[in-house]
Amino acid sequence: QMEDFIDALMAKMTLEEKIGQLNLPGAGDFTTGQAKSTDIASSIRKGKVGGLFNIKSVAKIKAVQQIAVNESRLKIPLIFGMDVIHGYETEFPIPLGLSCSWDTALIRKTAQVAAQEASADGICWTFSPMVDIAHDARWGRVAEGSGEDPFLGSAIAKAMVEGYQGDLTSNENILACVKHFALYGAVEAGRDYNSVDMSHIKMYNQYFPPYKAAVDAGAGSVMSSFNIVDDIPATGNHWLLTDVLRHQWGFKGFVVSDYTAVNEMVAHGMGDLQQVSALALKAGLDMDMIGQGFLTTLKKSLMEGKISLQDINYACRRILEAKYKLGLFKDPYKYCDPTRAATQIATKQHFDFARKVAAQSYVLLKNKDQLLPLKPTGTIAVIGPLGDAADQMGGTWSIAAKLKKDGSVLQSIKDYVGGKATVLYALGANLTRDSALQNRATMFAKDMKRDPRSPKALIEEAVRVAAKSDVIVAALGESAEFSGECSSRTDITIGDVQQALLKALVATGKPVVVLLFNGRPLAIPWAQKHVPAILDVWFGGSMAGPAIADVLFGRVNPSAKLTMTFPQTVGQEPMYYNHMNTGRPLEPGHWFEKFRSNYLDVSNDPVYPFGYGLSYTTFTYGKMHLSQQDLKGNQTLTASVELTNTGKYKGKEIVQLYIRDMVGSITRPVEELKGFKKVELAPGQSTTVSFQITPDLLKFYNGDLNYDWESGQFSIMIGPSSKEVQKQMVHWEK
Ligand code: IFM
Repeated sequence: QMEDFIDALMAKMTLEEKIGQLNLPGAGDFTTGQAKSTDIASSIRKGKVGGLFNIKSVAKIKAVQQIAVNESRLKIPLIFGMDVIHGYETEFPIPLGLSCSWDTALIRKTAQVAAQEASADGICWTFSPMVDIAHDARWGRVAEGSGEDPFLGSAIAKAMVEGYQGDLTSNENILACVKHFALYGAVEAGRDYNSVDMSHIKMYNQYFPPYKAAVDAGAGSVMSSFNIVDDIPATGNHWLLTDVLRHQWGFKGFVVSDYTAVNEMVAHGMGDLQQVSALALKAGLDMDMIGQGFLTTLKKSLMEGKISLQDINYACRRILEAKYKLGLFKDPYKYCDPTRAATQIATKQHFDFARKVAAQSYVLLKNKDQLLPLKPTGTIAVIGPLGDAADQMGGTWSIAAKLKKDGSVLQSIKDYVGGKATVLYALGANLTRDSALQNRATMFAKDMKRDPRSPKALIEEAVRVAAKSDVIVAALGESAEFSGECSSRTDITIGDVQQALLKALVATGKPVVVLLFNGRPLAIPWAQKHVPAILDVWFGGSMAGPAIADVLFGRVNPSAKLTMTFPQTVGQEPMYYNHMNTGRPLEPGHWFEKFRSNYLDVSNDPVYPFGYGLSYTTFTYGKMHLSQQDLKGNQTLTASVELTNTGKYKGKEIVQLYIRDMVGSITRPVEELKGFKKVELAPGQSTTVSFQITPDLLKFYNGDLNYDWESGQFSIMIGPSSKEVQKQMVHWEK
């Protein structure tokens, strides 16, 4: 039926109208409500626009859709996209934080809520999930992804696609767009938009799995990335967009470029705009975001025989299919119901959910002598540049985000303790000594103005305030704009002025809790050594502040675990747990040995490894039990462990299964996550946590890029993090 409908429609379309479907301009003046007087409006009338993005509200979207449906010759509806990446108006934690919940059901629900809100406001397409694996904390966009692991990243990618798309016939679901295809997370030196160089084996084993998982989950669209792959820009890379994506993975949706990525191929040295546009179309790109290379050059390329009509037809058909699947031909105003907009966006129910989710993303990094949870009594000093920053919770690509009014840490703590405790405040330090950096990094955060006083004066004031308190809550780290797109950093510490403040606070002898705000792993070895309690709170979204108070005072017991390694210093980057062994590995627990793979000045250890995170309670792992140690063919191995809550609080533990393939036809990582379970136990309660291991979990892409497993020895590991595992060996024969 869809095919017939589209055949009939395309039979009526002119070449210009077909090319028009491939054009995705930004909303331009539409966001200010000037819809009818812009050039875009006249382009829509002429059938030269396939969709628009980042236009907000039912009224504006409906007005534009009316132009397409009433005033263009073939009345083809537009598709409306937006970067709804961690919530819509109700904002959830940045994706890196969200991934630390390891809770795919919860993450699916956040995507559902985001889809419900965005669709209630007229949006039918989100540029999410961002599933780029990243190993280098310098890259600002690590904030937008799910960290360094392909197994967890794949589970999250699937959950998000399912959450957004659900049942596309419903007007509460929207089309997902998996991005950025591919390898954007591997930009050299962590510098945004930089080059990528990677072997195919590494692509297939480490970087491709989450994109493939999203495609397997039915993602309706894919966004090409800015970087090169095999020295050809992804946006014009036929091997990537057609051979891998369509032929190997069976992707049936459409591919959109990233913002002006077609045009940027000129700077990549691939030719002029006409050449690069033809290259992109022939490679398998269907929609051109912003740059209008397709719109302005494809006809000429067709006349000159550089592309074929079939190339254009394929791309046009894929865009029309997406519109059909979304139900826009049946009802172009399917997403334009003003009553939904009034009742389903930023509701109390959604904000309550956001508060719950945020608390699930906070990672307890240290808690000496059970300093946390705090008692809501006595005098609490909130100190630091993030302490009174209401506008610092939204994170990256939060176009529509609404923050809780007065949701700063300071106000949230005051609200939580009511009259029971006195809450004091001091700024203590600007975000950084470097005013240019601070201005760049707080461009959108109006309440993060610099205090002109000297670092010394600010610290002295903070110490005076701290002296009056029983406990210090130091809100330190990055502002949201320190990470995200085009926010790469070579320094991933908290900076010298914040560090000096922290030292002065610790020197007061008062107990100090660091609340660490960050969009990436930060190098905080000094804090780990000298500060009794550290809670990583990322950027928690609309209800970040109240959720911080929930965890600080123990209403919620933290249970999140890191999905990216925290190094000792930026010099160790890229740093990730599932690395190869090298021929000269350093023995665990050693530091420097001559002619071994190590550094002179720091050990090979991270400050916090992948999978690490504490709870207010304690969990004890019994001895791992394996159902058998000699296996054949398609047998199933059961690995289990008795887990007991040995502490005083009810809590959740994320039990992790890792496997190492000891000998292979290619070298294999020292460990790879192959399973995880999040279980909740009351104090004193025990449970058996089991993993079913089949040969499927042993498969990898070998030297011929065949996906298979090989007979031999496998180390089976279970534990609370990638660095605290118990191991047993099995032999598995084909
Ligand atoms: O979706 C984004 C992408 O992640 C980065 N460039 C701009 C796109 C559209 O806003």
